[in-house]
Amino acid sequence: MVDGLDRMGVPLVFERSVPGARTAMLPPLDVPEALPDDALLRAEPLPLPELAEGEVSRHYSALERRAFGVNNGFYPLGSCTMKYNPKLNEEMAALPGFTDIHPLQPVHTIQGCLAVMSRLDAILREITGMDAVSLQPAAGAHGEFAGVMMIKAYHERGGDGASRAKMIVPDSAHGTNPASAAMNGYTVVTIPSGADGCVDIAALRQAVGPDTAGLMLTNPNTLGLFDPNVAEITRIVHGAGGLCYYDGANLNAIMGITRPGDMGFDVAHLNLHKTFSTPHGGGGPGGAALCCKAFLSGYLPKPMVADSDGALSLDDDRPLSVGKVGAFYGNFLVCVRALCYLLSLGGDGVALAASNAVLNANYLMRKLASPDDIAYWDGDSPRARAHEFVLSMKKMKSETGVSALDLAKGLLDKGIHPPTMYFPLIVDEALMFEPTETESRATLDAAAEAFLDMVRQARDDPESLRAAPRSTPVRRPDEVRAARNPILRYQG
Ligand SMILES: Cc1ncc(COP(=O)(O)O)c(C=O)c1O
Repeated sequence: MVDGLDRMGVPLVFERSVPGARTAMLPPLDVPEALPDDALLRAEPLPLPELAEGEVSRHYSALERRAFGVNNGFYPLGSCTMKYNPKLNEEMAALPGFTDIHPLQPVHTIQGCLAVMSRLDAILREITGMDAVSLQPAAGAHGEFAGVMMIKAYHERGGDGASRAKMIVPDSAHGTNPASAAMNGYTVVTIPSGADGCVDIAALRQAVGPDTAGLMLTNPNTLGLFDPNVAEITRIVHGAGGLCYYDGANLNAIMGITRPGDMGFDVAHLNLHKTFSTPHGGGGPGGAALCCKAFLSGYLPKPMVADSDGALSLDDDRPLSVGKVGAFYGNFLVCVRALCYLLSLGGDGVALAASNAVLNANYLMRKLASPDDIAYWDGDSPRARAHEFVLSMKKMKSETGVSALDLAKGLLDKGIHPPTMYFPLIVDEALMFEPTETESRATLDAAAEAFLDMVRQARDDPESLRAAPRSTPVRRPDEVRAARNPILRYQG
């Protein structure tokens, strides 16, 4: 008996020998000459576990309770933009017209899907001030790597690929920036941040030269500071013949307000899973948009969506392209979610989301820290932060012995995901908070109270924090030992 068709149109048969269990069996394939019966075809159905739906549901719910997400509580993981992902995105991404396609389907049958990519591409160009977009990279770091490949290909074509061997990266950068440069064969030149936490212009002027391939920068930077000299910075690098790469991980602070393209950047990636509310996923369901100015568009990964009088196609004929950097055309369903988010917010909504992200970060910062503990706080002319801020627990550690790590672990017992720890590297005992725009004032107040409570605990009973967390499925691991001597095993 046939119970329906699977996504590829293959009939599905379900065996009902066990009450409540449904074991899927494919009917015998009608291709005996292709698969010899005796040698390759399975004689008996695969013994898949037979469980009632209720048991499976309990199993996954139990697993879910062991993990922590924005649906469980406050998640101020700095630099990661753990904003709420609206359910509407998921509903749109689950539409059969989007899910029941095959990557090798003829393009005239996937015009709607290509239109999604084309529309997203147009909106992202508008938001970034760039001229062309590839949606192929699967993560921010992947976009960076591909972006630096483009810079390299550009210099090679210009004939100075060999001499332009250095990539300039500020010391506040995310580790993926120097990693992307090094993996492309560049020597990384680190320039220091000035006393204000921004790029030291004098050091930059000294670093640039005929060997400069480019500069990689995020703005606002990882201290949550918007660099007011950004136009000057990109001018200096261009003046030396280098290109400017924008790490868009922090675009949530400025989207709809100011644009990397207008700041002088030539190439940029956007983390769709941070800024545009698609799920985070380590190289899995993540996604990045790689954007560039027109003069670099030929170097973008291929294929690109092409429009010929309204007929959309995938253009592979791109001789300058750095090639394919992912399977087919990227994580398409991530693009559906990002487009859904952008269309739900609209132009004004995008800018409002950024403004609220900035407001929430500054509100939380003022509630939980004294200026002494805010990294790069200039007492004479304190500057507001963008969407995130960094505290230094150095003073607390010297007074109580309680470290940033201890405080982060303590937050777990209060149902709060810890902020990012020990990053950026230029701040001692760093805790980086990014509340995002989707948290209410009540949540921020409660989080601030929980943190301040812990600070009091650190002073009154420091030992108690060293043993935290006490309420999580995994307590405090010996992280150094775990990294040096990992025990990797499958637990059934
Ligand atoms: C500033 C910055 N750049 C780059 C990345 C890398 O992005 P992804 O995690 O998507 O690879 C991150 C990630 O946290 C980041 O914070």
